[in-house]
Amino acid sequence: MSKAGRLVVLVSGSGTNLQALLDASADAAYGARVVAVGADRDGIEGLSRAERAQVPTFVEKLRDHPDRRAWDKALAARIAEHEPDLVVSAGFMKIIGAPTLEAYPVLNTHPALLPSFPGAHGVRDALAHGVKVTGCTVMLADAGVDTGPIVAQETVRVLDGDDEATLHERIKTVERELLVDIVGRMAREGWAVNGRTVIIGGAS
Ligand code: GRF
Repeated sequence: MSKAGRLVVLVSGSGTNLQALLDASADAAYGARVVAVGADRDGIEGLSRAERAQVPTFVEKLRDHPDRRAWDKALAARIAEHEPDLVVSAGFMKIIGAPTLEAYPVLNTHPALLPSFPGAHGVRDALAHGVKVTGCTVMLADAGVDTGPIVAQETVRVLDGDDEATLHERIKTVERELLVDIVGRMAREGWAVNGRTVIIGGAS
């Protein structure tokens, strides 16, 4: 069984999922705490949230490296400084490379019901397809784009008149709750992966 007490959270934007994890981990009974926040750009609200919570931050920009492989290695090294049990990609708009994936379990959150609508525009693509129900997915990251084993999903109804922004806001409300619940359970109960099936707790 793997455990997940120390979290490094990766962000690229507003960081409301990060905030939900910061708020939850204020209670020691939650079982996990954010030990560092990493980003691929500066000047974002996600980093400000970490600073306000007095959590260490780091920024690793792709353009500061000769190529993607070098950035992948540098990101893994920055993560390693904080000795995480689990890396959480919460609105981090980059594919995470092998150096990190081979060193740590990485949890990812996506604003659609995978395997439908993977990629950077899950909300827009679901809306364009005309689905009546969408939602969010928490998964373990693998080398593909949103293809890893699914840990949990929640549904959100599409309403008449929804646009990308209104639908995404309703999804994010559900997504934050789901992410906090799953990370806490993984930390407290452990988890195991059997092929594509993820089981939280239950095993000895
Ligand atoms: C989330 O919906 C996440 O799934 C998607 O981008 C959003 C990030 O929101 N990739 P925030 O930065 O946590 O507010």
